[in-house]
Amino acid sequence: MSNHAEETHTYVLNPESSTEMARLLEQDRYANQNMGGVFVGLSTSDITGLHNVLDLACGPGGWVLDVAFENPTISVTGGDISRIMIDYAIARARTQKLTNTSFKVLDITKPLNFPDASFDLVNTRLLLGVLRREAWPPFIAECTRVLRPGGILRLMEPTDLGITNSPAQERLNALFTKALWVAGYGFSPDGNTLGMTTMVPRLLYKAGYQHLRYHSHAQWNGIEVKEEINYHRNAEVIFQTIQPFLVQTKVATQEEVQNLFQQMLIEINQDDFCGMYNSVIMTGYKPE
Ligand SMILES: C[S@@+](CC[C@H](N)C(=O)[O-])C[C@H]1O[C@@H](n2cnc3c(N)ncnc32)[C@H](O)[C@@H]1O
Repeated sequence: MSNHAEETHTYVLNPESSTEMARLLEQDRYANQNMGGVFVGLSTSDITGLHNVLDLACGPGGWVLDVAFENPTISVTGGDISRIMIDYAIARARTQKLTNTSFKVLDITKPLNFPDASFDLVNTRLLLGVLRREAWPPFIAECTRVLRPGGILRLMEPTDLGITNSPAQERLNALFTKALWVAGYGFSPDGNTLGMTTMVPRLLYKAGYQHLRYHSHAQWNGIEVKEEINYHRNAEVIFQTIQPFLVQTKVATQEEVQNLFQQMLIEINQDDFCGMYNSVIMTGYKPE
């Protein structure tokens, strides 16, 4: 694929930005272990049946590399639109001497260049700001095509953008939630929620998936918690980067956004700052 990701993608952040890659690396650092492992939400017999696994919009490859390291008999493929993230993932696989990974630059809004029924599991994490709502049914159809009968689709999405004790971050979260809805992302009825974990299961049912299961995950973050995802830094990078998006979608003026951002920086760096971050892993089986 070409290097035109910056012009053609629908990601609300910039996939070719090294700041965004650093944010994803930081976010991934503890994500798998905090959530209970790479395959949380799957049963032991599900895991035993895995030979070929695909992670779509894999970013710099954290999930793929962890799966490959922990499961040398599984071949793991990662695909992402970002050239820099895929190059980084390939370099890390090489330095970790992982021979059971492969990475490709690909666009998940287009037909995937994989044969029918070639994977036992298709995994995705955090596609909220990647796929506009009309792109979800064709995306799920492509996942279904590349899954073998009985194969598993596993999607992790946030319930909300986090609930914190910072008034400025709460306001920015509300504006970002609204902006996503205005720009066509998520499935909220009114722009006050993300609507991902309510509507994605319906899309899976409509696509014929069976035995749907949901695994909720809650992560509290505060100064007492060491060795966790750095939500302060995550919020700082996200709200630095998405300011133009909030202005373009007309949910706030430049001045409002800048003032809120400055206020948020003060509040999230106070010792008493804390927040709860909720997400759901949704799994379903393609009919045999
Ligand atoms: C929120 S990040 C999640 C990354 C990874 N799944 C994780 O959890 O660390 C979204 C990812 O989607 C990628 N992306 C955006 N648009 C895409 C597209 N059309 N096709 C493939 N990947 C895309 C971005 O480059 C970014 O790596």
